[in-house]
Amino acid sequence: MYTQTIDGCMADVIGDAGLTPAQLNEWLAKADWGLGLLRKGHRDGSLPLVLLPERRDDVPMIEDRASHHRERADTVVVLGTGGSSLGGQALYSLADAGFGPSGDSPRIVFLDNIDPHTFDHLFRSVDLARTDFIVISKSGGTAETLAQAIVCIEALLEGEDEANIGDHFTVITEPKPSPLSTLAQHYGMAVLPHDRGIGGRYSALSVVGLLPAAIAGLDPVNIRSGAESVVADILSGDRCPAALGAAVQCGLTKVSGVTASILMPYSDRLAALGLWYRQLWAESLGKNGEGTLPVRAVGAVDQHSQLQLYLDGPRDKLFSVVQGPVAGTGRVMRAALAGDKGDLGYLDGRSMGDLFDVMQRATPDTLIKNGCPTRILSLDRVDEDGLGALLMHFMAETIIAAGMLGVDPFDQPAVEQGKVLARQYLGEIAPRR
Ligand code: PA5
Repeated sequence: MYTQTIDGCMADVIGDAGLTPAQLNEWLAKADWGLGLLRKGHRDGSLPLVLLPERRDDVPMIEDRASHHRERADTVVVLGTGGSSLGGQALYSLADAGFGPSGDSPRIVFLDNIDPHTFDHLFRSVDLARTDFIVISKSGGTAETLAQAIVCIEALLEGEDEANIGDHFTVITEPKPSPLSTLAQHYGMAVLPHDRGIGGRYSALSVVGLLPAAIAGLDPVNIRSGAESVVADILSGDRCPAALGAAVQCGLTKVSGVTASILMPYSDRLAALGLWYRQLWAESLGKNGEGTLPVRAVGAVDQHSQLQLYLDGPRDKLFSVVQGPVAGTGRVMRAALAGDKGDLGYLDGRSMGDLFDVMQRATPDTLIKNGCPTRILSLDRVDEDGLGALLMHFMAETIIAAGMLGVDPFDQPAVEQGKVLARQYLGEIAPRR
């Protein structure tokens, strides 16, 4: 599905900022913990996220629920935050680069914030009778998600009988008592189970990511097949791409002082992948003083925004450039159409994809020539299989990196403090009636 090239992270190519083969091997040896966890999890089922790629039994349930919303709705709003939203966003962007999904699929809007202005705008902008909602919360107790669901129910009740509200909703949550389960039961909403053993930021390949994907017309089986190839690599070799990626990330951090991990796909359809990756990497590794700052960039746009800093600022970044097969695609540019007098000869007769392609190759080459650690992930195709593979690659890489750094990839203890304080502040506000 993809090829990873780490030559641009090695000292013989980029000089002092790179790793020597001995340093790479030293870090690769530390992949044991993560690889062991992933392999054991696959063998005995103790890590369900590694078994998701081969799972097929839940696909009919996902397709059925997707059909329910595809038939009823012009707009589907996905409510939820963090890992309950970003995997779906990453997958959905494959189907919708800004003009809605193709065919007769409804448009999906991911609302992962609680800005009242956005919700007021939503209620003014859509036909609520033709709008459905997917509410996703693993815990069923996240204040932001419950608030979103409650205001959407209230807006629907202004135009519909309470008896019809449940049809507008699908809830994805753990099968256990929770405020969200109570709400779902009260309105007779369909509830799909969130696997208790899969944390939010590792749930993209579960119903959490695949229901929005299926509503948008993407094939859940192809997404999982792509991921399956990555699991096969993990099971079969210690130098698998995910382990090498983790060794490069952690090795460069400890050896060369890298503090930031930049993910730069050259595809609008992968633009949301960077948002998902940012949360996965930050929330999984940022513990006990460890972790690097994940940065989302998009080629070619960020060549005109961040590249100056990348090339000429502090040498503290690792670049992961994701390339797709775009050469020869798109319309062919005719310079005569621009009244060209000869200046545009370099564009003439080349397709827009040719221009995109040379840029996705020239940028990493320039970074490497300037001694900036750069790895290239080259996709065979930008499609469900390719994205499924990348999602699985980065989840595995993150877990392996956590083992190298000695942190728990599955918890997020620090974020609890703010939640407790926010509840305390809310308690200090007199209820408005
Ligand atoms: O990745 C995570 O674990 C978090 O970002 C959660 O997804 C986020 O806090 C939302 O939690 P929940 O799904 O329980 O509402």
